[in-house]
Amino acid sequence: MNSKGRLQLAVAGVGDFGARYVRALRGVSGVDVRWVMARDPGRTEAAAVALDVPRWSVEIAEVCADPEVDAVVVVTPEAAHRAITVAALEAGKHVIVEKPLATTDEDAVAMVEAARASGKLLMTALLLRFDTRYAQLKDRLPEIGRPRSIYAWRNFDRNLFALYSRTHSFVENAIHDIDLILWYVGGRVARANGFCRNTMGLANPDVNWGVLEFEDGTVATLQTTWLYPPQAHRNLQWNAGIQVMGDRGVLEVANDAGGFRANTEGDGILLLDQTGWSDIHGEPRGAFGAMLRHFVACLRGEAEYLGATPGEALEGMRVARMLVEDARARERRGYGAGG
Ligand SMILES: NC(=O)c1ccc[n+]([C@@H]2O[C@H](COP(=O)([O-])OP(=O)(O)OC[C@H]3O[C@@H](n4cnc5c(N)ncnc54)[C@H](O)[C@@H]3O)[C@@H](O)[C@H]2O)c1
Repeated sequence: MNSKGRLQLAVAGVGDFGARYVRALRGVSGVDVRWVMARDPGRTEAAAVALDVPRWSVEIAEVCADPEVDAVVVVTPEAAHRAITVAALEAGKHVIVEKPLATTDEDAVAMVEAARASGKLLMTALLLRFDTRYAQLKDRLPEIGRPRSIYAWRNFDRNLFALYSRTHSFVENAIHDIDLILWYVGGRVARANGFCRNTMGLANPDVNWGVLEFEDGTVATLQTTWLYPPQAHRNLQWNAGIQVMGDRGVLEVANDAGGFRANTEGDGILLLDQTGWSDIHGEPRGAFGAMLRHFVACLRGEAEYLGATPGEALEGMRVARMLVEDARARERRGYGAGG
């Protein structure tokens, strides 16, 4: 915190998403982004200039040595989350880390352990818990009784997969749905079956179906594919949603169903996202803005933490890894083989 009582944040990783964090945090009151940190010196300095951040570094140790830094925002590629998060926690900084928490169970456990040892907040940015619709679904669950059958889907356009094929989609993307499903059901997953196909020939499969069986009998399916045609995804609402069927009703969220539509000569028809990262009057709104304001309120001691706990993020990782391992074993046996 600086002498004026403003929280000082550092953002590690200034790709598309890191830049989004820097811009959004500018609209959160009482907060400054004091550092950006990334891997390449030239690009990191250029990002600092472009985003108007006063300090930049390629060393997390240099950032963490700054006593005014309160928290580090980790927005690097997934496999780099562990090193930066652990360094920040060990230096006594709070951390908000983009999902997925990590790419391996070992990394995830080390991060949660570092948070426990430091006593600092480790928030995994599972922002859908802060999306009004998904949160309302959670609040209304008692009306439908016990969840029996859940279907979650999350489909993206092909042109994004060149970047995100670096991590398995169960871990990278379906982790949002796994987190919601665990949050809604509240029980433990006993069995996970994954069915994946690699139609594009990239590092990981682009068609992914998972089936989860909970110890209490609830079943859930989740679908994450990259088969939507390329489109102007800048402001598009993803083809994503969830349906929860219980004994006394059905609750559903579907992203494509509503929102704000623009039809311009430049871009054609766009469904402009109002729920994820919309800005209103210079302030980040939607789930992203709500999540950031909550994180900041927790740092100030003004709110009880409501996001995914480190233990919950770890459990989501366990389920995602179960799906990946089952899908890989199925592939080794050959499609259509028993077991
Ligand atoms: N919540 C969502 O919907 C959502 C959407 C997109 C991305 N993300 C997450 O955001 C994170 C970043 O994604 P992105 O699309 O911005 O990635 P990116 O590849 O565009 O950017 C990564 C940034 O991290 C830097 N970097 C790479 N390795 C590093 C290292 N070892 N140490 C420090 N910096 C390093 C790069 O220089 C770059 O600035 C990922 O965890 C991703 O899953 C979340």
